[in-house]
Amino acid sequence: MCGIVGYVGRRPGKPVILDGLRRLEYRGYDSAGIALIEEGGIDTVRAVGNLDALFAAAGENRSEACVGLGHTRWATHGKPSEENAHPHSDCSGRISIVLNGIVENYKELRARLTEHGHTFTSETDAEVVAHLIEEHGGKGLAAAVRGALGEMDGHYAFCAISADEPDVVVGTRHECPLVVGVGEHEMFFASAIPAFLTHTRRVVVLEDGDVVTLRADGAEYTDVAGEPLVREETEFPGDDDAAEKAGYETFMLKEIHEQPAALRDTLAGRLCEDGTVDLSEVGMGDDFLRRLRRIFIVACGTSYHAGLIVSYAIEQLARVPVQIDVASEFRYREPVFDPDTLVIGITQSGESADTLAAMRLAREAGSPVLALTNTPGSQATRDSDFVLYTRAGLEIGVAATKTHTAQVAAMLLLALRLAWARGSMPEDALKALGHELRTVPELAEQLLARPSAIKEIAERYHDERFFLYLGRGMGFAVCLEGALKLKEISYIPTEAYAAGEMKHGPIALLDVESPVVVVADDGPVFPKLVSNIEEVRARGADVIAVATDDNDVIGELSRDVLWIPKTDHHLAPILAVIPLQLLAYHIAGIKGLNVDQPRNLAKTVTVE
Ligand code: AGP
Repeated sequence: MCGIVGYVGRRPGKPVILDGLRRLEYRGYDSAGIALIEEGGIDTVRAVGNLDALFAAAGENRSEACVGLGHTRWATHGKPSEENAHPHSDCSGRISIVLNGIVENYKELRARLTEHGHTFTSETDAEVVAHLIEEHGGKGLAAAVRGALGEMDGHYAFCAISADEPDVVVGTRHECPLVVGVGEHEMFFASAIPAFLTHTRRVVVLEDGDVVTLRADGAEYTDVAGEPLVREETEFPGDDDAAEKAGYETFMLKEIHEQPAALRDTLAGRLCEDGTVDLSEVGMGDDFLRRLRRIFIVACGTSYHAGLIVSYAIEQLARVPVQIDVASEFRYREPVFDPDTLVIGITQSGESADTLAAMRLAREAGSPVLALTNTPGSQATRDSDFVLYTRAGLEIGVAATKTHTAQVAAMLLLALRLAWARGSMPEDALKALGHELRTVPELAEQLLARPSAIKEIAERYHDERFFLYLGRGMGFAVCLEGALKLKEISYIPTEAYAAGEMKHGPIALLDVESPVVVVADDGPVFPKLVSNIEEVRARGADVIAVATDDNDVIGELSRDVLWIPKTDHHLAPILAVIPLQLLAYHIAGIKGLNVDQPRNLAKTVTVE
């Protein structure tokens, strides 16, 4: 996720802003920039790569500028490049902005602004904001920002400066974080508190729609209409580490709770108002999608589970045969390729050795390759013909969480796009699914906000020597992911099985009170799953079920139910995995284990 720093004060802002960007590095980025209001106007320096490149480009020269903006960019629209790095300017160069998030209607805005004579210098969505502010100018920067907001859709936080008002920084937020730091004769904006924590602990957390004008000696808060607001100042109690974890005890827990934002970012600009899917950024046209005769999905670990989950949806919705394989097997089993077989490599890091090797093998054999990755500029983006990005932001916890659900969401977009191009489903049914997918980030937010019995369940079973996970259909794929989460951070042996397989062996494992996690996919196979649950209960095992709120059968079949909001069963896996992430997390926490860096594991496996 991008990082924003804004500064206005009575001392040189350049070192303060650059230091603030350094403290936001943990958010992940691929380019960075700084803009300062100097005597002659706004001086902007941008650089691709890590902050060392920006520091070098900004040079050692001392600047007396006391107002400025800084930004670390996690590329969403437009490749990592100096032109696409923030800050972005208007046509006059007298306005500069930095933005985090996505302006979903940027294409329409850009077209209209271009017609009005504005010239654009980047591929980004963010640049439109600078030109909108320019268009709404004349009554001051804050009023121009409010005017721009009235035309913007999406979720974002941004800050703006103007050479015509060299003593202010204006900032606003809508569904993306922005905080104010209150110093002595200096004020700060930042995406996250670490950016200014060494200067002040006095913090004002902004609300959606706040438009804030900072001057060296204070802040003025209004709503979008310009009506004055009062915002509470608080004292941040934690240290740097706590701030980087946004107050969560671990990065993994923070990232579990970042899933609604990661889902919003991944879907933004790709799910149209009418429920259709726009993946034009990927470059696979209707003809190409119609010609496909088969899809191979190759991945490792949690990414493999994301692929398995959506392989069901692709076949059911788009009627394209899908084969899925762990990359380490795929690359050596001499698969048969052809030009009408699309190979999808799913890898959040974009660097997993086996997945990259599988993708290269496919490409050399003449099959088109799509990389689904969370990391711009990664090797996977270079070893593929097409790239579809998840936008989960940097994931620090070794156990993948937000990148997994973002992968599922991105793959569901692809499934819908494929079905639309191939006419495999009625258009109104596809639009309905698209509309339902738009609601999933909010459903995830509601789910994470619910009180739940997960901690009590974790307390009850944290000493167990084995967990069995059972499911059918996509529920089975979710079980694989839930089982992996528990084994990789709690070191408890787990096994995930297709519930229909139970009588072919696994049932021998069950004993009285054995914990059996069941993911009740409420698709057409649910009645079959009920029989499997009865078989489990007949052996005295404890059933812990994941089920949708409207399921009125599962309650009497289970000792505990982890309820999730109702949604279409193709989309439900995104929600179903969340309680399993939390169950694994709390069990590992009770066992006193390091969930962010589990033993023997690396975040990215760059060797075979
Ligand atoms: C999952 O929690 C693990 N971190 C691991 O299985 C991971 O998903 C796998 O190594 C694949 O990584 P990638 O998505 O970066 O290729």
